[in-house]
Amino acid sequence: MQKFVVRGGTCLRGEVRVSGAKNAALPIMASCLLSSGQCVVKDIPNLSDISVMLEVLNLLGANVTVFGTRVEVDARSLNSVDVPRRLTERMRASNLVMGPLLGRFGQVRISAPGGCAIGDRPMDLHEKGFKALGAKVLTEKGITAAEALHLTGAEIHLDSPSVGATENIMMAATLARGTTIIRNAAKEPEIVDLQNFLNGMGARVRGAGTDTIRVDGVARLGSVEHSIIPDRVECGTHMVAAAITGGDVFIRNVIPEHLEALTAKLCQAGAEIKRYNDGLAVRMVGPPRPVEIVTLPYPGFPTDMQPQVMALMCLARGSSRITETIFSKRYQHVDELVRMGAWIRVDNRTALIEGVPRLSGATVQATDLRAGACLLLAGFAAEGVTTVEQVEHLDRGYEHLEQKYNCLGANIERANDGNSGS
Ligand code: UD1
Repeated sequence: MQKFVVRGGTCLRGEVRVSGAKNAALPIMASCLLSSGQCVVKDIPNLSDISVMLEVLNLLGANVTVFGTRVEVDARSLNSVDVPRRLTERMRASNLVMGPLLGRFGQVRISAPGGCAIGDRPMDLHEKGFKALGAKVLTEKGITAAEALHLTGAEIHLDSPSVGATENIMMAATLARGTTIIRNAAKEPEIVDLQNFLNGMGARVRGAGTDTIRVDGVARLGSVEHSIIPDRVECGTHMVAAAITGGDVFIRNVIPEHLEALTAKLCQAGAEIKRYNDGLAVRMVGPPRPVEIVTLPYPGFPTDMQPQVMALMCLARGSSRITETIFSKRYQHVDELVRMGAWIRVDNRTALIEGVPRLSGATVQATDLRAGACLLLAGFAAEGVTTVEQVEHLDRGYEHLEQKYNCLGANIERANDGNSGS
């Protein structure tokens, strides 16, 4: 177990480059299983979640080669359709291989992912989609098995726009007979990236980025070379890091249109944000102003940025309100922020935050990935030393995290538990 020891109180200044998007890379790597050719994926971030996906692909029999951020996957001769618990329990998103395996081989068996720190995360919408395409889906003794002689295109209306279910159904449908229409689909940029990747292999997918996706099934998918889009949550985290430290940061490898909901709120909070051809400049002068936030599916305010913005609101002049509508338990960072001197009350899905003049360093737990990012940012702004424990959660989603922030002037040290980090 490792921890970050953060010495707070410095303004972040300088330039940082955003890595490829974890949430785009995971479904894209899973969809390599659909290909009867060679897939080359570039700008894959070096993260523990990505390592788990590479392990899953290897275990299924794919030939995987990693050259830095370039990954080559040859899934021509797979020899298994089983994903064991030891991998699904390390990463929920390993369920993204279900659609590809079902689409290509008509079979998949996967250990059902367990509970999750941020709330219940059922798979009912994924399964409903597979069933609509003609698969039989059964869960017994913790193993979900899906099978079909062949998949047939269908019209599927999602009860809510689940990102994972949209991706899984899209991937399965690429090799189905006939046309699939997914209505009330998720519209996240990562789904557009997946569409581009699938079409690069020869799939016929249209509509990603809108609430209706049409997939015309094809007989075979081939080789492709593709670069992953920049990670909008990493970029957003840097934007809040600049704001919370009263800093001035230039962020490269960004698609500003993916960050509009966050940009609007940070501007309301007092940040100056300027777009350039090669990046975004974020500058903050003075204490933040309070804001009101409701998390929503894209293009609404992203739930994956809620904890980080809550850290900023802890230091605002006045009261902010945050309503989390996507995940039922995504307030685990609240008790930790309170430990650092924040004033927050949670009532059901709404958090009321009264800004305080300062936070002070404390030992806190990163209970999940974005909670960890929130506490790190709070640590940058706090007086004294903050120790963020369980950094393995941060390693799931932020590449070269301490190097990037230390280059901006932060003071973060990684230490083993039981070691002061000095
Ligand atoms: C993805 C992202 C995650 C982000 C989330 C919401 C990846 C790898 N992860 O997760 O970072 O926080 O989108 O933007 O891309 N739901 C159901 N039934 C289902 C599926 C989902 O009820 O079958 C519910 C979930 O419990 C949750 C909500 O729908 O409350 C959103 O989940 P979903 O969009 O599926 O998130 P993920 O794809 O798991």
